[in-house]
Amino acid sequence: MMNTAYKVNGNIDKKLRLGSTDEEFFENHVLHTDNDKYTYETITETANFLRQQVPFKPMVGIICGSGMGCLADALDGKIEFPYESIPHFPRSTVEGHVGKLVFGHLSGVPVVCMKGRFHYYEGYPLWKCAMPVRVMKLLGVTHLIATNAAGGLNPNFKVGDIMLVKDHINLMGFAGNNPLQGPNDERFGPRFPPMNTAYSRELIREAKKVAKELKMQDIIHEGVYTCLGGPNFETVAELRMLSMLGADTVGMSTVHEVITARHCNLTVLAFSLITNMCITDYEIRDNPNHEEVIDVGKQREDVLKLFVQNLVKLISKSCKK
Ligand code: HPA
Repeated sequence: MMNTAYKVNGNIDKKLRLGSTDEEFFENHVLHTDNDKYTYETITETANFLRQQVPFKPMVGIICGSGMGCLADALDGKIEFPYESIPHFPRSTVEGHVGKLVFGHLSGVPVVCMKGRFHYYEGYPLWKCAMPVRVMKLLGVTHLIATNAAGGLNPNFKVGDIMLVKDHINLMGFAGNNPLQGPNDERFGPRFPPMNTAYSRELIREAKKVAKELKMQDIIHEGVYTCLGGPNFETVAELRMLSMLGADTVGMSTVHEVITARHCNLTVLAFSLITNMCITDYEIRDNPNHEEVIDVGKQREDVLKLFVQNLVKLISKSCKK
């Protein structure tokens, strides 16, 4: 079966295999059936492997968006696990793409950071992209900070601004693609989880206060994020449609992670770094590109680190209340 699939697919770029055998490659990227889905027991094995090597329980999970790996670099006393060293973890597919789980302390608070995430466009099904969130849950994480690079649709936004996510539009879900599809394990959460309260209002309010204290109020917004599968950037007509639907930013991640996090009752704060403004005019012939996405992340490194350090402090305070 595996070999047949390989022959049918023909020339898969060798660079994408990252030294894995054909069988490993197909297990990771091509053959995904319901039977491949992670069970509670499998994810427990992953969590146990990590727990045995990390002498503290992380309270906050952080997912670093594209170009925002500096957030993981800011941790004190880092303990790092390349994704390929973690049992059952998906592998990074793109050569040169860092993929590691980093444990450490931020503002004295124990955290675990995903430096590099898994995207649908890499060929992973959504349940696989979101699997690390369940690992975080089993490790004891109570709060998730999900960050992303995104295109700005709201004309009031500027490149380099930050949008706190108050809601999302799960476009892939409209087409029947959802990370929670398939048999439900109640040990993670309910069959039909609500999503109207996905993003913590309390944390958004507090995050705005933090932004004010850091004199970032001019670059902070609140709005609706939407996720497309990618990897191509959107057409003008698609962007106009998304804007009409009420989306303020567009990206290729986060929504499925947040759905999975809320399913297992993590408190969620998410924000978009606006790395480019979406082009909704046929006469403008500029093209968005991945390099500018990464560059804006780098330019905003200091602000992002400071903001997230303060958010983590705030979360730990809110837990002690
Ligand atoms: N569209 C989709 N994803 C993105 C964009 C965009 O304009 N910018 C950064 N990630």
